[in-house]
Amino acid sequence: MDTAIQFVYVLSAALFVYGLKQLGSPATARRGNLVSSLGMLCAVVAALLDQGIVEYQWILAGFVVGGLLGAAAARLVQMTAMPEMVALFNGFGGMASLLVGWAALEGDASTFSLITIVLSIFIGGLTFTGSLVAYGKLSETIGSGAVLFRGQQIVNSLLVAAMFGSAVMFVNEPGNAQWLYILVGVALLFGIMAVIPIGGADMPVVISLLNSYSGLAACAAGFAINNNILIVAGSLVGASGIVLTRIMCKAMNRSLANVLFSGFGSVATATTKVSGEVKPINVEDAYYVLEAASNVAIVPGYGMAVAQAQHVVKELQELLESNGCEVNYGIHPVAGRMPGHMNVLLAEADVSYDLLMEMDDINPRMETVDVCIVIGANDVVNPAAREIESSPIYGMPIINVDHARSVFVLKRSMASGFAGIENPLFYKDNTRMLFGDAKESIGALIREFD
Ligand code: TAP
Repeated sequence: MDTAIQFVYVLSAALFVYGLKQLGSPATARRGNLVSSLGMLCAVVAALLDQGIVEYQWILAGFVVGGLLGAAAARLVQMTAMPEMVALFNGFGGMASLLVGWAALEGDASTFSLITIVLSIFIGGLTFTGSLVAYGKLSETIGSGAVLFRGQQIVNSLLVAAMFGSAVMFVNEPGNAQWLYILVGVALLFGIMAVIPIGGADMPVVISLLNSYSGLAACAAGFAINNNILIVAGSLVGASGIVLTRIMCKAMNRSLANVLFSGFGSVATATTKVSGEVKPINVEDAYYVLEAASNVAIVPGYGMAVAQAQHVVKELQELLESNGCEVNYGIHPVAGRMPGHMNVLLAEADVSYDLLMEMDDINPRMETVDVCIVIGANDVVNPAAREIESSPIYGMPIINVDHARSVFVLKRSMASGFAGIENPLFYKDNTRMLFGDAKESIGALIREFD
């Protein structure tokens, strides 16, 4: 039996790794998700048998309740609310690790076991409350701004000291329950204190980091109960979460410390003074230019998600193509508010993956583009990142839409984007502003083609 269980663990681990690999491309991501879920199902059943839990009615009940909740969440939660849902999943993962660590506490536990229990309780606890705060900020159930107060660093340092103190005391005196309770309390409080100073718009990065923490907590819980597959699965989540966090920080040209401690996005940092003239364009004139274009690049951003314009964008793409025009999409890694946000929206509208080009691939071709249509993107196409050294986003890699022959920017007003700064693109000679809700503007353009 034991050999069979270990074999299923290895099989599950292989399915996780294969599934993760498939998640790397939109074409195979759905299959990757299925393969990984299958791996998880095998791992859960084998782990229950491994722990000697053979009350099948409970396994079945958990399977049915969990499956129903998961299916309901998948159907009911809007695509735009996906980061919130991931935050909740991370939080529950953290709480599960805390409980597993706690339950693993036995009278004759070795020092190593006690340390792994401490880690699973502490990381799991802070992941739980940190994720709930992240959820609250993203869903705006609590204020989304950064909460900063005098002496915050001192309070946080005291909490870290309390954490180390109670951890040491707990390992020394595992029979004394008060150290365990203090440890749990400090972990829960620290999760709240660590996330409140971070601005709501930075939450996707924080959620990815908390995702990594939930993996580390699971890994520690795996050591605590001596379960190999939990160690493997936890390590995979921990590593992939940190890789994603790094990718996001790099694409924003910000350090993780800056995201965690600067309160960026909570205050407008409008320091860029821009000269020039804004030149609006109406739908009819925009149509004439597009009708004559032979090469169009579409660069979507957060505004496309807000307007839910992905389906009309696809319609416009097809009309342009049937007019003999080549159309590509330029996708910035942090366009929108969550990793892969634009890919997911465009996939929902059945836009072919072949047309999606990453920033580094589309930039060298931008000079050959007749019209670049910027749909609700702002920061990710802001040339201040290239041109103005004093700009807060200076050095952030952007899509060089201003290198196209003409640029149409579709947005409702002159309002700034997430970074809260002016965009010199709107004042460039080759830029025309098509003001209005992106879905309505594109709808009107489509009607011109009819
Ligand atoms: P933003 O810079 O946030 O700009 C979005 C623009 O969309 C706004 O200027 C807004 O202008 C426009 N908009 C909103 N609703 C619209 C509608 N219904 N129709 C048309 N336009 C609309 O977006 P971006 O260029 O995608 O950049 C993303 C930003 O988020 C970056 O600064 C990035 O660092 C940050 N961020 C991203 C992530 C991830 S993982 N994607 C994570 C954390 C932070 P109007 O109000 O004038 O319409």
